Amino acid sequence: MRTFTLGTSGLVVPNIVLGLMRIKDKSDAQIRELVSTALDEGITMFDHADIYGTDHACEARAGRALGWSAAEREQVVLQTKCGIRFGWFDFSEKHILDSVDGSLAALRTDYIDVLLLHRPDALVEPEEVASAFDRLSASGKVRHFGVSNHTRGQLELLRATVDQPLLANQLQLSLTHGHMIAEGVAQNMQHEQSVVRTDGVLDYCRLTSTTVQAWSPYQSGDGSGPFIGNRERYAELNDVLDRLAAGYGVSPDAVAAAWITRHPANMQVVLGTTRPERVRAAAAGSELGLGREEWYELFRAAGHIVP
Ligand SMILES: NC(=O)c1ccc[n+]([C@@H]2O[C@H](COP(=O)([O-])OP(=O)(O)OC[C@H]3O[C@@H](n4cnc5c(N)ncnc54)[C@H](OP(=O)(O)O)[C@@H]3O)[C@@H](O)[C@H]2O)c1
Repeated sequence: MRTFTLGTSGLVVPNIVLGLMRIKDKSDAQIRELVSTALDEGITMFDHADIYGTDHACEARAGRALGWSAAEREQVVLQTKCGIRFGWFDFSEKHILDSVDGSLAALRTDYIDVLLLHRPDALVEPEEVASAFDRLSASGKVRHFGVSNHTRGQLELLRATVDQPLLANQLQLSLTHGHMIAEGVAQNMQHEQSVVRTDGVLDYCRLTSTTVQAWSPYQSGDGSGPFIGNRERYAELNDVLDRLAAGYGVSPDAVAAAWITRHPANMQVVLGTTRPERVRAAAAGSELGLGREEWYELFRAAGHIVP
């Protein structure tokens, strides 16, 4: 498992992370097996959010099932998020502080390693975020901070006021949902792909050493579910995935993960599977090191143009 440090911090993290958004109805034994498989593969970082399962429910499932000892807890990186409410977003100081207290209780831990602001709040007041983050850091409840789904401008706005370093930006990215990469490749063309939707967020993150965490790495991005195995819609992509997977002796899941880990931005892939065998399969993409031509072949097969 390849590791690097998160953003500008010294926190060592794997380039594959296990997200625990879909575990609400899993048994304790299933959650334990899922997480121990991840740990066996070197996946030591786990992604949560207060909203997963609603009202800290998935965090509570993990907290109950895993019951980390103090020694085990120090070996893992627990990340969670706050700021999404029902039909509105809330980056007020009070909500951030309350949400963290809820996450600590649900996860049965004394500290969160990384706290992300989940989705941009149109009514954000950076001074409130700054104060909340300072208090959480001073109390030891949260060790590191970041954001999710933020544009360059939104990150810059926060950074102008928030003293705690914002280490990561968790963004939706998969082979078939690749705007943040594809729009730059088609720059200056009269083509739909040239439309700038992401405000150059990937280059901005690279320039500022902000770790990009790719969420939904296997989802089509248009609500039609995973692209792997969906031959009706993604026949060419599945052909290329299958051929490269056979050549490397891995699964298509590994190749799709490797398409992200191969990118020089040092991105993390946030898996959402609830099946141990898929965790194992994806982990093989951590260090696969696709060739440049292979990377672009996958990019074209996913439907992007190379002008
Ligand atoms: N920041 C944000 O706004 C945001 C939003 C969404 C998610 N996230 C984070 O990102 C994580 C991953 O998101 P995600 O769950 O959407 O990611 P994902 O890994 O792309 O999708 C997982 C889902 O796809 C299925 N799946 C995975 N591989 C498959 C395959 N090869 N064939 C068929 N089905 C497959 C899984 O089913 P099985 O369980 O049966 O394998 C599961 O239902 C979440 O857990 C969460 O931590 C963040």
